[in-house]
Amino acid sequence: MWKGRFTQDTSSLVQQFGESISYDWRLFPHDIAGSIAHARAQLRAGLLTDEEFSAIENGLLEIRADIEAGRFEFKTSLEDIHMNIEAELTKRIGAPGAKLHTARSRNDQVATDTRLYCRASIDSLTKSIAALQNALLDRAEKYAATVIPGYTHLQRGQPVTAGHHFLAYAEMLERDKSRLADCRKRLNISPLGSGALAGSTINLDRHAIATELGFDGVSRNSMDAIADRDHIAELLFAISLCGIHLSRLSEDLILWCSAEFAFAALSDAHTTGSSLMPQKKNPDVCELTRGKTGRLTGNLINLLLAVKGLPLTYNRDLQEDKPPLFDSVDQLDLILSVNTEMIAAMELREANCRAAASDPMLLATDLADWLVKKGIPFRHAHELVGKAVAEAIRTATPLDQLDLTKIDPAYDASASEIFSLDRALAARTNPGAPSIENVRSEIQAWHQRLA
Ligand code: ARG
Repeated sequence: MWKGRFTQDTSSLVQQFGESISYDWRLFPHDIAGSIAHARAQLRAGLLTDEEFSAIENGLLEIRADIEAGRFEFKTSLEDIHMNIEAELTKRIGAPGAKLHTARSRNDQVATDTRLYCRASIDSLTKSIAALQNALLDRAEKYAATVIPGYTHLQRGQPVTAGHHFLAYAEMLERDKSRLADCRKRLNISPLGSGALAGSTINLDRHAIATELGFDGVSRNSMDAIADRDHIAELLFAISLCGIHLSRLSEDLILWCSAEFAFAALSDAHTTGSSLMPQKKNPDVCELTRGKTGRLTGNLINLLLAVKGLPLTYNRDLQEDKPPLFDSVDQLDLILSVNTEMIAAMELREANCRAAASDPMLLATDLADWLVKKGIPFRHAHELVGKAVAEAIRTATPLDQLDLTKIDPAYDASASEIFSLDRALAARTNPGAPSIENVRSEIQAWHQRLA
């Protein structure tokens, strides 16, 4: 491609070092779409005849079909997807193929392809996230009234429902989708026409190219357009954070599946056994989800460090943007699919959940609230309940079986009414709180949000 200036061939070690075709071949549908739009603009500018344009378009479509069918031989000596396709096109159609690169550089070409790839990935990840939300919603519906302890510091705090717990993850995933949508908005502009860095002396209709490729507009500064990898960083961040959310879900499920909690059971199809200990049923999907989150975050850091300190505009370092990008998209896609399947089949052990939530200590705050409703300032009420808790621990008596009137005259016999789990949940009616009624209406709202 650059033989004019050189008298030596590229060393085979340098070819091996510099190639990206082993991974960027995946950009082929986008590279071909970009090339067809670019050729159409050349046609309109009078740079190609109708016949030449048709030869280019048909040639590219045939190459695409061959790649899809696994009939295309990628050559490392041709470095990347852009040169592999262009060289093959020229081999197949001759002279018109050699005109395609007019007013274009691989720099604006790769920037375009990558944006198109990110856009398509965002669209498919968004669907996969919605599928996982649906699985969570389904579990939330099934276990809308299953009471579990809610935790802070991994210590039992207050009663909630499993439905509320599952919907908390649906909320996180909704924010993940909106981060992806936000990233999509900013990335959806066409860099094509920015050339190597300074546009071209041959003016093609950039807006027409952008429209054909589904972009919302064209980039405004050729140097920025060539150097910019912000959209990849944003996407890798959105993916990392989604992974982190699923890592937290994984940790909840790992705990819930332990003999110590025994709140949940994953299906045999989504767990593994031990080669040594016959009794084991391990939550490997959860652990791998948690483990892969390190990889997703590593990919983000990898990209940020590759871009840091690069002078404008294109530097070959930027070729290193694609391995972390592809890996994060692939991994999150897998993580989402397998978690969707696993959550859909997960069961709660409701009796254990309710037994754990029936610990009267979980209602200590409700007891303080009861005192507040009698006119006692909260700080004082907190102390009075603290004394009752200390007495319960000292005498090994369940909190709901203490004679509270002996602890302080502020208590009367009706205080014991607060020790009803159902009543405690029913009282939590403020928006966002876990009353069963609230959870049911949230479930309805989610059905609409996800429809
Ligand atoms: N394979 C290259 C990349 O991914 C394409 C752009 C090459 N540009 C260049 N000036 N060598 O970044």
